[in-house]
Order: sequence, then C-alpha cells, then structure tokens
Amino acid sequence: MLARFAWISTALVLAACAEGMASSEDEPVDTSGSSGEAGASGLAGAGGAGGGAGGIAGGPAGAAGKAGAPASGSAGVAGQAGSPQKAGGAGGATATPCGNGKLDAGEPCDGADLGGETCATATGKPGMVGELTCTAACAIDTSGCTAGLSCGDGVANQASEDCDGGDLRKKTCADALSNAAAQGALACTAQCKLDASGCSIGPACGDQKKDPNEECDAKDLGGATCASALNDPDMQGTLSCTPGCKLDESKCVKNPKCGDGAKNQASEQCDGADLGQATCKSLLSDVNATGTPKCTAACAYDLGDCSVPAYCGDKKKAASEACDGADFGGATCASVLGPGHGGALGCGSDCKIQTANCVVVAACGDGTKNQASEQCDGADHGGATCSSIVGQGSQGQLTCNADCTLNASACTASAFCGNGKVDAGESCDGADFGGKTCATVLGDSKATGSLSCSSCALVSSGCSIPPYCGDGKLAAGEECDDGNVAGGDGCSATCVAECLPGELKLGTHCYGEYADTSGNPTSWDGAKAACEGMGRHLVTITSSAEADLVWDEMSGVTTQGRWIGYTDRAVEGTWSWITGEASGGFIPPWDSGEPNDAGGNEDCAEFLYSYRLWNDNSCSRALYFWCEAEPIVKFP
Ligand code: BGC
Ligand code: CA
Repeated sequence: MLARFAWISTALVLAACAEGMASSEDEPVDTSGSSGEAGASGLAGAGGAGGGAGGIAGGPAGAAGKAGAPASGSAGVAGQAGSPQKAGGAGGATATPCGNGKLDAGEPCDGADLGGETCATATGKPGMVGELTCTAACAIDTSGCTAGLSCGDGVANQASEDCDGGDLRKKTCADALSNAAAQGALACTAQCKLDASGCSIGPACGDQKKDPNEECDAKDLGGATCASALNDPDMQGTLSCTPGCKLDESKCVKNPKCGDGAKNQASEQCDGADLGQATCKSLLSDVNATGTPKCTAACAYDLGDCSVPAYCGDKKKAASEACDGADFGGATCASVLGPGHGGALGCGSDCKIQTANCVVVAACGDGTKNQASEQCDGADHGGATCSSIVGQGSQGQLTCNADCTLNASACTASAFCGNGKVDAGESCDGADFGGKTCATVLGDSKATGSLSCSSCALVSSGCSIPPYCGDGKLAAGEECDDGNVAGGDGCSATCVAECLPGELKLGTHCYGEYADTSGNPTSWDGAKAACEGMGRHLVTITSSAEADLVWDEMSGVTTQGRWIGYTDRAVEGTWSWITGEASGGFIPPWDSGEPNDAGGNEDCAEFLYSYRLWNDNSCSRALYFWCEAEPIVKFP
C-alpha cells in the first residue's frame, strides 16, 4: 500500500479517535495502513454497524466517519458507505453500542458518561472550565468549555500574567533580557512569570564577546588577567582565549621577558619561535605570501624571509605585464590609442590592456580646433591669420604650437595706426603712449591725470597740475604766491604774506606809515611814488577795520594828517581810490563840512591827526603817508 500523509488537527483527532491516535497538534500523521486500521476500529466499525444493522446507530456512526473524512478519506468513505473493509468487516461483527449510556471499548464517551474527562483534560488546557458533553455519535464535545481566566489555563489572559504555559505574549529572550542579541528558549513559570533561564546574550562561542557561559571569547577576557586566572598576584604574561572560549594561561609566567621564548607580553609581537598566530600571509595580508616570519631579539616580527612573488593579479604591474588591476603603469586611452581618446582603460585577468571602454574625445593634438581651450590644433587655426593676430598688413605664416596655442613668430610686423604699437609718425597707438606721461607732456613733475590717444596722437586734456605754493597762482590756503618758494621777498616759502619791518598786517594786506627817503613828509604825488617804489600803493581805506588800523597808530600824533590814496583830481567832487577799488558799503568818514575843496585846490584826501575823520587838502602839501601792500601774486 502506498503510504500517504496528511496534516490533521487535534480537534479532528479528538473527535475521531478515542485512543491510539495520540497525535500532538500539527504532527504529520500516516493516514494509510495502520492508522487507517486504528480509525477503522472506532469509526469504520461503527459505519460497518450502520451499514450492516441500519437504524439509528448507523447514521451517527456514518456522520462520525464523515467527520474523519478529511484526515482519512478511505476510512470516512468506508464508514459512510459501510463497504466491507478489513476493520469494517470486523466492526460489523462487534458493533460498539453507542447510545447505551455506558462507556464501551472504543468510545470516548457515551451519553453522560464522559470517561472521567473534563474541559481541562479534554482540551489539554488546565484552566478550561465549563460543560463537557458527549455527542450522539459518542464523541467528546468541548464546545461548552471556556477559558477559566486563571494562571495555568494556558492562555495569558489576565493583566497579572506575563505568560501562561506556552502563551508567552509573543515575548522572546531578547525582550526578556532587554538585549537584541539574546537568544535561547524563553519559558513560563507555574506562576505565569517569564523564565529567562534558558536565554543567553549573544550567540555561541566565537562571537568575539564573552557570554555568561563562556570564560572568554576571542579578545574579550571579561577583565581576567594571568594573576586573576591563576589566582596568583605574581603571575604576569599574556592571558588569551582558546577557540573553545576557555582561558588559556599557557603564556602566563612569573617574570615574563623578551627572550623567554614565549610571546607573553603585550609589548611582544613574538618571542623566539613563538610567533603567536602570525604568518607571512597574515602579516603581509597576501595569500600568495611565502616564507616564515622570524622574530628579532627585540621580540618584533622580522619579515626578511617572507616574500610575495609577482603574479598577474597582484594588482601591481610587473615588467612582463601591460597592466595589473588598476595599475596601468601610466598608460591611458590616449597613450594607447593616440590623442583624442579618453575614457578608462581596462585590465584583463591576463594582465593585458583592454580598450573597449575607451572613447573618442576632443583633445589638443587631434588636428581639430574643437575645445574652448584651443587657439588652434595642427593646421586648424580656426580662421586666424597673421593679419588677424598681428594686425592688418602682417604677412607670413601663422603656426600652431604643440599645446594648441597660436604662434605668430613667423608673421611679419605691420605698421599702421591701430596696431597698438607706436610706429613712426605716431605719438601713441591704443594703450601704447611711447613712454609719455602727463608729467613729461606738460613738463611738470607735479602733473597728474591721464593721457589718452586719439588717431594715434596724444591728448593731454585729461592731465592737470594741481595748485601748489610757488606756482604764482593764488590758491585756497595761500595768502600770496610769488611764483617761488623763497622767503623774505614779500611772500614766504609757505605762501604767507610777509610785511616789511614795522608794518601791520590785516588779513593778507600789509600797512605802514612812511616818509620820503629823507625821512620827511612829502606831497601826495611824492607819497604815491614812494609807496609804489616799495611795491605798494597809497593806502585805500574801504572798511572800518582799515580805518581803525590807521587811526589806532595815528591817535596821539599832534602834527599833521597823513596822505591816503583817495583823490577827486580827475573829476572835481568825484572821489576815487587810486587802485580803482570801490568803497562798497564803507562810508568815507569826512570831517564835518568836508570835502570842501577849499580855495578850489583840494583834490587829495588826508586822514586827520586829531579825529578819526578825513579832509580834502591841497595835494602839494607835505605830509607823512600810509602805504598798503597787496598780496603778491606773480606767475613765474
Ligand atoms: C579848513 C579845511 C582846509 C584847511 C586847509 C581848514 O581850516 O577847514 O577845509 O582844507 O583849512 O589848510
Ligand atoms: Ca578841505
């Protein structure tokens, strides 16, 4: 008979089997052969009874057989049809009297006789309570059972229960130990509390982390030392961990030192023949390394006997290789395929260059001016000529340098206004001023500004010479400017007006009372000439300040008045200053009744000695006089 398997549930098993099919939930069950026979003993037999005896008992038995159908098709069919099978035939002879209220062999229950079962035993859950009943087909009916909400009912259904039996509320060791690495079997105590005794943090030995069940794990010694491991405070050396996560005290010694033949100090890479786990391969990180490391007297690795033979694939280009890995020995697509090639070279497993990924790109040297950085490329000058580069009229051959810049060295020079160079007949050309500056063009080193060039002729209108003391022009801040920077000549080196000894200064003017060369008073005309001989003029009094200055000096004089530069000689009655200046708002302080032109012969004005007033008098009268010096302004 062909063996067949099906998954049958506990409920069906409970319903269909009184005994013999003690299957746990979701176990694979062989539904052919012997189990079919077991089923037949309980169900097909009943079916057989139904089929053979008919009547009431037959129906329910058939129904039971039907219930078993999903698990045991043949048994169900046998029960329903009552066809003569091995067990059916037997059942037909010994029919179970289901319905007689007594528990007969093969019956889970019958009527009120539940065979001692309770909700708890029938469901396998100790907390189940309620009414367990028996169907008319003598099958246990647990539909009246309910969870009793007690610890132990197998369902974590109370707030006080962390778990209940197999119901762990989906908790895991990771939750119980609050560690994501925790693994193992989490269980539930009889008091419905989680039991993490089967959990451990981290996986097994070898995870580099000492777990509670390990003495150590790799370099994690859990703080143990030779002294602690051997319980001897004098022990030193190197404590290590075996692959089995046991402490290895073999390198622990009383007095470790370099030379004791054991790598037992952190400061030692090795000691004698004890290289630890080191090999040429590990120390050179190259599986092709050969040889054996040695250990120096200072307990350091000596790789002198280690070597790595060159081979294709060592990522280093050997002389016999065109490339190796990314090492192309400086070769590029351009060097392999020529200018104008870019992209990435490839290196085959045979250490030969592959150019499949090279692409054609623009490059200096490809003979075409095709990059913004190129002025030209080979014979492609982009239309440039000697004339366009050097200037109109230039002849010769323009060439292209290897770096794709134009070379005009073979072009002839051209001379014309506009070529940017001063040629014969030009004083300038563009920005070329032939070395001229505002200073040289204006002939004054103080000149500033900028020259310009118009039609190859210099234009100096943008140049100027800033005012300065000594330029002979009165500028702001100067009292005078006599065109030099010498002092003692009436205008100082800093352009301050200089008065003669004894003179008074008012503003920028000098004032002084004078006599003729013999020290005597003189006529108005003599006085005028004397003042002019000193670079001055008879004083012109056109302000109260000037009048006060003269009067302050004259008051107390008890002789005669002093000539001033005021006359009506030209037109009788019309008085004017000899400099031509106007009196402006200043009213000449004539004495009462003056000017009266007494005797028809008074055309010159005098400053009276007894009053701060004036009088007209005869110009021939001999008087002392006042001279006034104007600020000196003299262009050199
Ligand atoms: C008169 C003046 C006159 C003067 C001449 C005075 O007595 O008042 O007007 O100019 O003599 O000396
Ligand atoms: Ca008078």
